[in-house]
Amino acid sequence: MTELSGRTALVTGGASGIGAACARELAARGATVTVADVDEVAAKTVADDIGGKAWAVDLLDVSALEDLTLEADILVNNAGVQSINAIETFPPEKFRAMMALMVEAPFLLIRAALPHMYAHAFGRVINISSVHGLRASEFKVAYVTAKHALEGLSKVTALEGGPHGVTSNCVNPGYVRTPLVTKQIADQARTHNIPEDEVVGEILLKESAIKRLVEPEEVAALVSWLASPSAGMVTGASYTMDGGWSAR
Ligand SMILES: NC(=O)c1ccc[n+]([C@@H]2O[C@H](COP(=O)([O-])OP(=O)(O)OC[C@H]3O[C@@H](n4cnc5c(N)ncnc54)[C@H](O)[C@@H]3O)[C@@H](O)[C@H]2O)c1
Repeated sequence: MTELSGRTALVTGGASGIGAACARELAARGATVTVADVDEVAAKTVADDIGGKAWAVDLLDVSALEDLTLEADILVNNAGVQSINAIETFPPEKFRAMMALMVEAPFLLIRAALPHMYAHAFGRVINISSVHGLRASEFKVAYVTAKHALEGLSKVTALEGGPHGVTSNCVNPGYVRTPLVTKQIADQARTHNIPEDEVVGEILLKESAIKRLVEPEEVAALVSWLASPSAGMVTGASYTMDGGWSAR
């Protein structure tokens, strides 16, 4: 028996990066994991590797989530995207889509999962926020707005879920070594008007006391601890893993 044996978990965006690392770690600790992702092939690859299930879903289609019922003991709201532009040129449809994926979909998935969690007097909602849920950076208006909103959603879930044995927390990483980060290097260079090879040192790690990227497995270890019995009294919290960025 391992500490999450008998538990079911759903990880959104579980086909890549932090989500894939969380899916693997939760499975390693005994949970039966569903990997939910718009990338069906990659979701199935991760699910097959860990003896879990794949759920091919486009979480931008939020109306399809309104009548959903989820039988998950552990819900990891992780799917997210980044888009870099100054406010005055930020495309309104991109802003709306990021709110849908990173705020509305997590709300609807929590809403779909709570009846099962309440019925079993156990639940763990873990929201992958960001240091950008607590701090702002220029040129990331939709991302920073969405992650700040996710912090509020997580805290309300903690207050309502507490009497039913459900905890809800945010995890707030700095820059993690995933495709989401590597894909933004060219855009960061363009908006800050610096060469691409200076982006990691000059922009991404500028505020960090520890000058390296976070590894996805490090985030997954924190997520799995939040899912574990030891974290039963941890709720409504936001755990930074940012190499000291937010210590300033
Ligand atoms: N990488 C970082 O530096 C970093 C830092 C802090 C927080 N985060 C957060 O961690 C989460 C995961 O990021 P990552 O870096 O692992 O990114 P990633 O790009 O490696 O993975 C994101 C996953 O989400 C999936 N996804 C995207 N749109 C989707 C949709 N419409 N429906 C379903 N799935 C969809 C993608 O297919 C992909 O598998 C995000 O919420 C991100 O904001 C990342």
